[in-house]
This record gives sequence, structure tokens and C-alpha cells, in this order.
Amino acid sequence: MSSLSPQSFTAITDLFHRISGIRLTEAKRALVQSRLQKLAADSGESDLNVFVQKMVRGQLSEDMLVSVVDKLTTNETYFFREPAHFEDLARRAGAHRATGGAGGAGEFLVWSGASSSGEEAYSIAMVLADKLGTAPWTIHGTDLSTTVVDSARQGLYPMERARDTSKDYLRRFCLRGEGPYEGQLLIMKELRARVKFQCANLMQPLPALPLFDVIFLRNVLIYFDASAKRAIVERVIERLKPGGVLYPGHAESLAALDLPLKAIAPAIYQHA
Ligand SMILES: C[S@@+](CC[C@H](N)C(=O)[O-])C[C@H]1O[C@@H](n2cnc3c(N)ncnc32)[C@H](O)[C@@H]1O
Repeated sequence: MSSLSPQSFTAITDLFHRISGIRLTEAKRALVQSRLQKLAADSGESDLNVFVQKMVRGQLSEDMLVSVVDKLTTNETYFFREPAHFEDLARRAGAHRATGGAGGAGEFLVWSGASSSGEEAYSIAMVLADKLGTAPWTIHGTDLSTTVVDSARQGLYPMERARDTSKDYLRRFCLRGEGPYEGQLLIMKELRARVKFQCANLMQPLPALPLFDVIFLRNVLIYFDASAKRAIVERVIERLKPGGVLYPGHAESLAALDLPLKAIAPAIYQHA
């Protein structure tokens, strides 16, 4: 298979930027090339640059475009990543329970805004099941990539992704795989039923979503330039309840964005 020419690299990364808002730099050239080579080969195209040319001219199917976007996104995630957020969530859910959802708060709603394969959303679900039990609560998980949204719905994971999950939560909320599923865990049905996954591109108008008590928007803003990052956060905080909080990743400060957000703890912002 041919290697990716500088023109093709620019063409495909410009296309990806227009769709996802993510700018892939020269440092990602080898990764882009290897991920596209596999797709090109699978589609029967032996020349990678011809494959890219067809892609940017819109001569390939919509499904192939979705596959390219899927391949170029970074989906790294695991259960209970950045644990301080889950501790804060547990406190908020506990306070919600103590007041019986008073002040019209009602159902406790959480959004995992770049949910990848679902580990973040199910970690939230374990905390809410623990703190709120059978009271009304729901989690929404959204992501750009159709592949990860499909796998999130299944709730089946290699055991090592749960290395930071407590034994108590593993016992109460996960099933240990046996036979052909050895080394994997399945999120229990009762928890899966509380988490709704769908595709959503943060760069575009959002689908119909309720107002949330807590929004996780972690380890995704890092990929955007300042103006895209601002536009995304502005759109996302429209979905926060009054007094609700937004958690970006700990490496993703929102301080310079000049938005009505008040930092109340490291990587925790309240709609001001
Ligand atoms: C590194 S993962 C972060 C997963 C999880 N939030 C965490 O912190 O572990 C980043 C996710 O952002 C998604 N993503 C990238 N661009 C996006 C966009 N424009 N709209 C929605 N999701 C996007 C990717 O598909 C990927 O699953």
C-alpha cells in the first residue's frame, strides 16, 4: 500500500477538521496513515492517495466517511478516570437525596458529553445506583463515533479497564465473564437500563436533551482550538440546570474562555 502524500495528509485532516472540529497535526501522520490504510484495503482500494482523493471529492459512501471519522478519533478511556469528579458527584447525589430532590430538582440527570465506549457513563451509573438507589435518575451518553456508541450500549469490557473500580462496585454492578467471556465484565442489566447512548457531534446543534445536574465533558476539549472549544462549552452549558456543574478533564482549563462559569474546585465549574 502506498504511503500518504503531504497533499493527501492535508486534504484528509482538513476534511476531518471540518466534520469533528479536531485538528490533527503532523505528529499524527503515522497514525493517520496506518488507520486509513486498513480502511482503504478493506474497501478494495490499493492506492491510499486515490482513496483520500475519492473521499474528499465525496465519491465514497456516507458509511465510509463515518468509518474514517471513527478511525481518526481517539477513544482512550477507562472506569473511574480522574476520581475527584466521582467523589464530587457522590456528594451532590447524596445532597439531592437528602433534600428529596426538593426545589423542583426532581430526577437527578447526568450527561457524559464525550462518552467514548461508555466506561465514564457506567462509572457515573455505579455512583448514582449507590447513592440514589431506586430514586429517579438517568444518564445520557453521547459521542461523535458510531462505533464507540454501539459498543457502549453493549456494556461489555476487558477487565483491565476496571482496574480503578472498587471491589464493592464490581461485585454489586458487574458480572464476571466466564468461558468465552473470561477476562471481561458485563455491566448489569439494571444499570444499563438507566444509561441512554446516542451519537451527537459537539460541533453541531445538539439533539434534544434535558437539563442536567452534572455534565461530564472530559478529555475531549483538549483536541479543539480556542474558538471551537468556546463554542462547544457555550452550547453545552445551555443544558445545565441552575446551580448545575460542569466537569472538564483536569488538563482542560476553561478559565480563558470568558463564559459565565465559576471555578468552584479544580476542574469543577458552576454556571454563574
Ligand atoms: C479520549 S475520549 C474521552 C472519553 C471520556 N470522556 C474520558 O474522559 O475518559 C474522547 C472522545 O471524544 C469524542 N469526540 C471527539 N470529537 C467529538 C465531537 N466533535 N463531538 C462529540 N464527541 C467527540 C471521541 O469520539 C472520543 O470518544
